[in-house]
Amino acid sequence: MTILENISLKPYNTFGIDAIAKQFVTANSFNDVKSILSLKKDLFLLSGGSNMLLTKNIEKLVVHLNLKGITTRDIDENYVLVTAEAGENWHEFVLWCISKNYGGLENLSLIPGYVGSCPIQNIGAYGVEIKDTFYQLEALEIATGKTHIFNNSDCNFGYRNSVFKNNLKGKYIITKVTFKLTKQNHQLNISYGAIKSALENNQHPTLKDISDAVIAIRQSKLPDPKEIGNSGSFFKNPVIDTESFKKLQEKYPEMPHYIVSENEIKIPAGWLIEQSGFKGKRFGDAGIHKNQALVLVNYGNATGKEIHELAQHIQQTILQNFAIELEIEVNVI
Ligand code: EPU
Repeated sequence: MTILENISLKPYNTFGIDAIAKQFVTANSFNDVKSILSLKKDLFLLSGGSNMLLTKNIEKLVVHLNLKGITTRDIDENYVLVTAEAGENWHEFVLWCISKNYGGLENLSLIPGYVGSCPIQNIGAYGVEIKDTFYQLEALEIATGKTHIFNNSDCNFGYRNSVFKNNLKGKYIITKVTFKLTKQNHQLNISYGAIKSALENNQHPTLKDISDAVIAIRQSKLPDPKEIGNSGSFFKNPVIDTESFKKLQEKYPEMPHYIVSENEIKIPAGWLIEQSGFKGKRFGDAGIHKNQALVLVNYGNATGKEIHELAQHIQQTILQNFAIELEIEVNVI
């Protein structure tokens, strides 16, 4: 392992922000991670870089977690446990599972990032979250170098949330993640409108049919980070109480919404942002995507600070227009 100095992080974050790492090291194995921990340095963990906005240079030792490998263990004729090392590319991993006819992750096709960080924000799309198939993960405790196993209930998964974003934030390095997937009798989820429409003439959709539909939907709405820098949804969809919702609905009868519980309604932040006139707008090299207003983009040379300022401007406007506080979903560094 070599510790490199003054490395640009532009290729390592999907927003394409040109922040500098004072020191940078790639961990290719579990033992590499252990050796790095034994250095007792302040660490900045870098996985796929797909859910972060870098607003400054990083003075800590940046550790690029690049552990690779997939293994499987059969449970019975219906289920298999599939374990991926943290540095496996998420989408390639999903495609690999589909090629083996292992079901459960197909709705999560084409999400950028690595396997190791998917539990941190409980990634989700089109009616499915990883918590639905997550079995366990292995992580190294940074303070002690000890290995810990976290089962599904240990992770406190919520909407784009887990214990790793709260109590245990910055305390562990996730090294591998195991999913419990189906080998037959797959539990397909085609409840999301656009998937349903894409498959309406298909009586017996396969895992690949669902994955293909998801890929087509994502490609039609979401910018490819290889072409335009972005981190997917920049904000969370806000949840408001029924009283406030009713007041807003009088003014905006067409406002889309989903019922979360008896007293909670979720509003698509993309709609609020579009209604406020931001969709497709560009401010220098920072902008709001033309097909999905929830996605902020870097057209080339925007700084993290510029994108963050745009995000704050959007938050203030939404607060003024709708009295709703938008919460940033991406990690702002
Ligand atoms: N909408 C608009 N204008 C927009 C965008 C959305 O009016 O520009 C409204 C539409 O009414 C649309 C509704 O918002 O029907 C929902 O839009 P969409 O289906 O695109 O989903 P989303 O709520 O904006 C969430 C996730 C996405 C995920 C999709 C599909 C969050 C923060 N985002 O977006 O996740 O792919 O659902 O399940 O929950 C991500 O987290 O990075 C991400 C892309």
